[in-house]
Amino acid sequence: MSKIENIKLKLDQFVIENNEHLENFRLQFLSKKAELQELLGEIKNVAPELRKDFGQQVNQLKQYAQQLFDDYKAKLESQISYNQSDVDVFRPATGITVGSMHPVTIVMNKVCDIFEKLGFEPVSGPDIEDDWHVFSALNFAPEHPARDMQDTFFVEVNPEMLLRTHTSSIQVRTMEQNQPPIRVICPGRVFRNETITARSHCIFHQVEGLYIAENVTFADLKQVLLYFAKEMFGEETKIRLRPSYFPFTEPSAEMDIECKICGGAGCNVCKHSGWLEIMGCGMVDPNVLDNCGIDSKKYSGYAFGIGIERMTMLKYKTNDIRLYFENDIRFIQQFTAASK
Ligand code: DAH
Repeated sequence: MSKIENIKLKLDQFVIENNEHLENFRLQFLSKKAELQELLGEIKNVAPELRKDFGQQVNQLKQYAQQLFDDYKAKLESQISYNQSDVDVFRPATGITVGSMHPVTIVMNKVCDIFEKLGFEPVSGPDIEDDWHVFSALNFAPEHPARDMQDTFFVEVNPEMLLRTHTSSIQVRTMEQNQPPIRVICPGRVFRNETITARSHCIFHQVEGLYIAENVTFADLKQVLLYFAKEMFGEETKIRLRPSYFPFTEPSAEMDIECKICGGAGCNVCKHSGWLEIMGCGMVDPNVLDNCGIDSKKYSGYAFGIGIERMTMLKYKTNDIRLYFENDIRFIQQFTAASK
């Protein structure tokens, strides 16, 4: 019995790191001349009452030795195949980089979510448009300066076509194709031939809203915009509507929110007024309804257009709009986590 224990100890202490060690192990424990083999031969010499127990233990030890041998052999073989291939399996893995949302996309999605909860349906339209959908149907007089080469990018090969300067063109397309009630939200890219500075860019994003039904009033518009401002900037947010002018709305207004940076006290960002302009809005001009095949005697409605970069700059306190279009990954990657 002490021999059995002795061999077990030797088995456990045997270090196998290469094929030579493995072969030594085989010779020492599994070959015909191995000590273990001798023990098997001795079973018959053991006293009958102890023989069964002894036999069992010797056989278990032999199986144990065989198992160790097989395991080490398999391990060495797999190492050999790693070593022979070009793959360095021991090289530390690099982390998987996960994509992130662009800050403008985060804010645009949030704006759309708020209006979708109120029943506004998201719709889109083409970036390349014609004069009718961008200007004429929206009541722009033929001489209106917005049509000017200074503001609008025209398509060189077909000067009838232009890059839309606002998402209001999607209102026109929606009204041409649907009868009231209409309640849509239209996110999209817009283009203007403007000098690129810290505050303005030739590409930016707008979200347009349109609601047309019977008996829609300015009070409805005001309530929806107040709800939006509170959802977007917090329950305490104050808004103010200032009279303004757009060819396609009458009356027209611009909506300001109380400056989030100074709390209304006045600072550089709000030019010491305590207020920040967020969007244009108004009651859809009856001419526009008629241009788009909607009976202006029966229906009325409101529209609004929100500048997304403006809101994104406010939300994330970014002081240069150009950062949104440079696609420097170090800048863009910062916002996904912050928006949660
Ligand atoms: N389209 C206007 C712009 O680009 C924004 C706007 C103002 C949209 C008033 C509207 C509106 O729908 O009613 O500046």
